[in-house]
Amino acid sequence: MKYYIRTFGCQMNIYDSQKMAGILKNLGYEPAEDWKDADVILVNTCSVREKPDQKVLSALGEFKKVKKDNPNAIIGVCGCLAQRAGYEILQKAPFIDMVFGTTNIHHLPKLLEEAKSGNKAVEIIEEIDQGEVELDKYPTVRENEYTAYVTIIRGCDKACTYCIVPYTRGKERSRRIGEILQEVQFLVEDGVKEIHLIGQNVTAYGKDLGDVKFWELLYAVANVKGVERIRFTTGHPRDLDESIIKAMADIPQVCEALHLPIQAGSDKILSAMDRGYTQKEYLKKIELLKKYIPNIALSTDIIVGFPGETYQDYLQTVKVIKEVEYDQVFAFKYSPRPGTPAADLDITENPEIVSKRLSELINIQKDISLKKNLQYEGKIVEVLVEEDKGNGELVGRTRTNKLVHLIGRNNLLGRLIDVKISQANRFSLVGEIIE
Ligand code: SAH
Ligand code: SF4
Ligand code: F3S
Repeated sequence: MKYYIRTFGCQMNIYDSQKMAGILKNLGYEPAEDWKDADVILVNTCSVREKPDQKVLSALGEFKKVKKDNPNAIIGVCGCLAQRAGYEILQKAPFIDMVFGTTNIHHLPKLLEEAKSGNKAVEIIEEIDQGEVELDKYPTVRENEYTAYVTIIRGCDKACTYCIVPYTRGKERSRRIGEILQEVQFLVEDGVKEIHLIGQNVTAYGKDLGDVKFWELLYAVANVKGVERIRFTTGHPRDLDESIIKAMADIPQVCEALHLPIQAGSDKILSAMDRGYTQKEYLKKIELLKKYIPNIALSTDIIVGFPGETYQDYLQTVKVIKEVEYDQVFAFKYSPRPGTPAADLDITENPEIVSKRLSELINIQKDISLKKNLQYEGKIVEVLVEEDKGNGELVGRTRTNKLVHLIGRNNLLGRLIDVKISQANRFSLVGEIIE
């Protein structure tokens, strides 16, 4: 029996898919190379913008064909779109056998049984399933052997007015520190070198537990023997304080990289988004980060065309991008999400103008990204070798999360090696191993 999982969306969904693969593996399933050979197809969906919504429906249309050759094949839909609109999807695509929400994943074995017996297996509950932590006991099945995600907090307590996530993932729930450390220990024993702590809002870790803070968790993870690198995503600017920044600077394994979404540069728009900081406050945190960690690589998310955004507001975003000099910027056009407060606001700008702003912003960033990467030429950096492409071609990442292509020898997979960068491109670096 074979399974195939198609994942849309963010790190949370990637991790959930890895857990579902773990569950299916426990049940005796093998991964299928091609969805056409699968007995179970799972589509793990995202609903953060309208585009991913549409992509899900077209993927489902494609996967439907699996039933031609294999009428017993099961098609399941889960993730954030399923949580938000599972019944609608079922109506639009009645050939689906299973639909379940973001906190019901641990019930996959039961749901699969139900679907196999010919019934529709549906489990979408509005409140958080208290049993969701059962998922923690399953191992993840990862593509990358040496770096692994570990969920530390689920849900989000912020209420950014444009965002669907609080509705699809619920309130913040931090995982107990002992359980996180146990998972880290297990991963390290399995050969993992880099631990990537994830959540929609990792910097809020521990607030609901009351007795532990995010920076304390960083120290605890670093103390697990064998952890060579630590990353975390996503940090919210509001919760990023000096004690976290100090810990980042102090702990040798914490990588010099941070994704810190600003969303917009204009205070008027930031306030309409309810982000809880001004441009000045955000830039102060960036300044602090650069002071404590001078070679830090920064990245961000931007929304262009939020309701009420004028050209002057947009120019404030451009100003921030030029000032911070991010290594990478992920920019999106605003997309109204049903049920969010911003969905009721009037869109003031014409979509063509917004598209123009978006492409202008991306072009500005292209030059900055290249400039940042060019600074690496001639430098020696530590690379974790993550992939062997054959013919001696290896791919790895720097601590600053830059992709590095290099020519190496065998047996370097999973090793941290020193590499001299010979060439910088916009999205990657090329280097040579230092003996
Ligand atoms: N928790 C993270 C973001 C999660 S969503 C944070 O607070 O930064 C990932 C990104 O999608 C966001 O940073 C935002 O830039 C984008 N996004 C979210 N909702 C959106 C919407 N309605 N329209 C366009 N982009 C959106
Ligand atoms: Fe969405 Fe804001 Fe929560 Fe991020 S912090 S997930 S943007 S509500
Ligand atoms: Fe998408 Fe859900 Fe993540 S909406 S961005 S998959 S939390």
